[in-house]
Amino acid sequence: MNDHAFPFARGFVSTPEGVAVNGVLLEDVAKRYGTPLYVYNLDAMVEAWREWTAAFGAIPHMVCYAVKANPNLAVLQGLKNAGSGFEVNSGGELFRALTVGADPSTVVMSGVGKRFNEIVGTIEAGVALISVDSLEECRRVSEAAAGVSRDVDILLRVNPEVDARTHPYIATGMKGHKFGLGPDEAIRAVKEAANLPSLRVVGFGMHIGSQILEVEPYREAVSNLLEVANVARPFLRTEPKYLDIGGGLGVPYAEGDTEVTPSQLLEPLRDTLAASGMTVIAEPGRSITARAGVLVAKVEYVKRTREKTFVILDAGMNDLLRPMLYRVSHTILPCRNPHAPAQDPVDIVGPVCETADTFAEGVAFPKVKEKDFVVIFTTGAYGFTMSSRYNSRRLPAEVGIVGNDMHLVRRRDFYEDLVGAERMLDL
Ligand code: LLP
Repeated sequence: MNDHAFPFARGFVSTPEGVAVNGVLLEDVAKRYGTPLYVYNLDAMVEAWREWTAAFGAIPHMVCYAVKANPNLAVLQGLKNAGSGFEVNSGGELFRALTVGADPSTVVMSGVGKRFNEIVGTIEAGVALISVDSLEECRRVSEAAAGVSRDVDILLRVNPEVDARTHPYIATGMKGHKFGLGPDEAIRAVKEAANLPSLRVVGFGMHIGSQILEVEPYREAVSNLLEVANVARPFLRTEPKYLDIGGGLGVPYAEGDTEVTPSQLLEPLRDTLAASGMTVIAEPGRSITARAGVLVAKVEYVKRTREKTFVILDAGMNDLLRPMLYRVSHTILPCRNPHAPAQDPVDIVGPVCETADTFAEGVAFPKVKEKDFVVIFTTGAYGFTMSSRYNSRRLPAEVGIVGNDMHLVRRRDFYEDLVGAERMLDL
């Protein structure tokens, strides 16, 4: 049998010995570090970043990886070494980027509710651009910048009012959403911002949502964004220099799902972007890390009830929230013999005390038994980063694969980590 690649994973293949990445068997990684365990193909993340930068070709651009998708330091380090900039959404994400030595002039700070101190810290760190979400925030940035000798460069986030045709929880560019300013409001904000000291509007940005698999919403949104830039031009203190098209490019999660590559996304926008004369910023997160990561879990029990069979894993909704929060499915297969014929339908669940703790319901699954390992694919983005200690479960470990070496890039919590920040009362 030949190795079989999965379209929803980068570099993970099914071999006669089981699912492997760069020649490393997931079962071996799981036996060494325990489960639940995130395993990342760090080389594949860098490769995905390179595809983005290559797709821009001659258009002046910055590819700023969206740290929220997977903020592990080893992930950021690999991307930084490849030349990536970073999009950060909080003081904490900025701290991570700076920890791996990111050049602040390659960082964009965005977010809808920045605290005053976060803005001050961002300015003091020398971050290139702050993506400002409202006129109220323009005033706050101006105030925070009062103490520095240079003007702070900001992008104004525009809500281009388009439907990204994705899950409603992660669509962010429609009328009524909390993000950015509608086209008219944006122009009003530019006029008012012109009178605010210590601040310069140097460009416009958008982020219309996540897991987007169509080009049309981008095309429409970019055209709305450029229209705002044109109308606003006479009121700016400088020619607009940056056009931030956000992140949002989706990935396949199952066999047969649509795939859109960065170059397929950019091709229809290429002439417009090039003609704008601006430096284009992209903020991809998911399209860089999702397929390069998996969550490995162990089967604790196969529980047969009169109604159903439950495959109970040692990973739960605290380790991976996406299936529960968005009701989406990730491909799950046994690590050994992933292509064995499927048996009667099972529910694949976790150990957490909620019925919501279900990864898959009524799916035909190959026969598994206690202690077998399973792999939950396409979890390199919005996996660990959305995990919690609910049920006082320890945060899982993370392993990075480089070449065919495995490295522990985050140890599993100790029980002490669960209570380490707490204090008992002096009673
Ligand atoms: N830029 C901004 C301003 C963002 O808010 C986001 C994601 C990105 C870039 C990166 O988007 P991406 O390329 O990863 O789609 N937890 C959800 C996804 C939330 C995305 C939030 N913002 C999920 O698991 O599907």
